Amino acid sequence: MEKKQKALYSIERWTKEHDASQFTSDLASIRRYIQEQAHRDTSSKSSAVFVLVEPGKQAVVGYYSLSSASIGFSEIPEKMQKKLPRYPQVSAILLGRLGVDKAFSGQQAKKLGEKPRLGELLIVDAQERCLKISKEVGCALMIIDAEMPSEEEQKKGARDPLTFYTQYGFTPLTANPRRVVKTMRAMALEFEGA
Ligand SMILES: CC(C)(COP(=O)(O)OP(=O)(O)OC[C@H]1O[C@@H](n2cnc3c(N)ncnc32)[C@H](O)[C@@H]1OP(=O)(O)O)[C@@H](O)C(=O)NCCC(=O)NCCS
Repeated sequence: MEKKQKALYSIERWTKEHDASQFTSDLASIRRYIQEQAHRDTSSKSSAVFVLVEPGKQAVVGYYSLSSASIGFSEIPEKMQKKLPRYPQVSAILLGRLGVDKAFSGQQAKKLGEKPRLGELLIVDAQERCLKISKEVGCALMIIDAEMPSEEEQKKGARDPLTFYTQYGFTPLTANPRRVVKTMRAMALEFEGA
C-alpha cells in the first residue's frame, strides 16, 4: 500500500509557491498553522515544514513540521532510559504539527474506493527523515505532542490523535501522557533492520 501511495504523492519542503488556501481540518490549529504560520516559522528557521502534494501540483494536501528539541532524562519511560546514556537532557526532534486535508482525503477515498492513508504516509516519512537527520546531527528521540481537539471540535467529529501515534510505536510519557516519544534506535530497527 505504501509504495502505491508514494507513486501518487510527493512530500517536499514547503515553499511560498505551495498553496494551502483550501486546506481543511477538524482542528482549527492545524489549518491555521499551514495557512498562517508556516511561512514565518520556516523563514526564521524555527521549524522545517514538509508538505504532501500530488506530483506537479502546488495544493497542500497534508503536512508536518519538525524542529530540534530536548527532553529531561527523568521524563523518559524507564524502558527507554536503559538504552540511553544518562545525560540530564536527551537530544530529540519534535514533530510539532501533522495534518491531512480532510476534504481531499474524503474525495480520494471515494475515487479509489479505499482510504488513501495519507496520515500514515506522513508519519512514516517523518520518521524516515528524522532517522536520516540523526545520522548527521545525533538525536536520540522523536517527540510528538498529540493535540487534543477542543470540546466543540470533538462534538463536530474530531478524533483524539493519541492512538494514531501509539499505533506507530510512540509511547506516552507517564507524567505527560499527551506527549509521545519513540527512539531513533527503534526507528532504525523498523525501517532499516539495524
Ligand atoms: C490524525 C490524521 C493526521 C490521520 O490522518 P488520516 O489520513 O486520517 O489517517 P490514515 O487514513 O493514514 O489512518 C491510519 C490509521 O490511523 C487511524 N486514525 C486516523 N486518524 C486517527 C485519529 N485521529 N485517532 C486515532 N486513529 C486514527 C486510522 O483509522 C488508521 O487505522 P487502521 O490502520 O486501523 O485503519 C488526520 O486525521 C488529521 O489530520 N487529523 C486532524 C489533525 C490532527 O489531529 N493532527 C494531529 C495533531 S498533533
